[in-house]
Amino acid sequence: MKKIITALALALVAVGTTAALAGPIEDRQAIMKQMAGPMKIAVGISRDTASYDAAAAKKAMDEIVAHSEKFGTLFPANTGPGNGIKTQATAAVWSDAAGFKAANAKFIADAKTAGAAKDQASFAGAFKVLQSDCGGCHKVYRGPAS
Ligand code: HEC
Repeated sequence: MKKIITALALALVAVGTTAALAGPIEDRQAIMKQMAGPMKIAVGISRDTASYDAAAAKKAMDEIVAHSEKFGTLFPANTGPGNGIKTQATAAVWSDAAGFKAANAKFIADAKTAGAAKDQASFAGAFKVLQSDCGGCHKVYRGPAS
């Protein structure tokens, strides 16, 4: 009986490992798409010079921060191009891991700065920087689908 349970446990671990391999790519792509929600809200706030809802701005930026912190953990080895996987991540994510980490850290820091803005003009300025970070990272670390 103990043997059967052990075998079952091993089988479950094997299933878990396979799922984990397929998981991070889908998860990181889904996170990038989920950025659209808080980004859309933030664009509205950045354009509305007549009023400023600091709590709403912070909420949107907190979501971006949470997404990005998770995003940075979803690039395990062998999930880049050339592994028979559909991904737009470039090889640079792994060959220049420090640079990729720094780009994600900058994005997170800029989202926190925008989220802490006390007035609309400060938010709009900080948000512009955040928006440029998307392209800044994509230019190096996101390419055509492999
Ligand atoms: C630190 C780097 C980095 C930052 C910052 C970043 N991205 Fe990305 N993005 C990537 C990478 C890498 C991929 C490719 C992921 C993959 O296919 O495995 C990607 C993919 C995407 C995709 C395609 C997702 C899909 O359907 O597969 C969208 C949309 C996207 N990013 C939007 C954004 C937006 C909008 C921002 C800014 C708010 C942003 N990204 C900020 C690195 C980044």
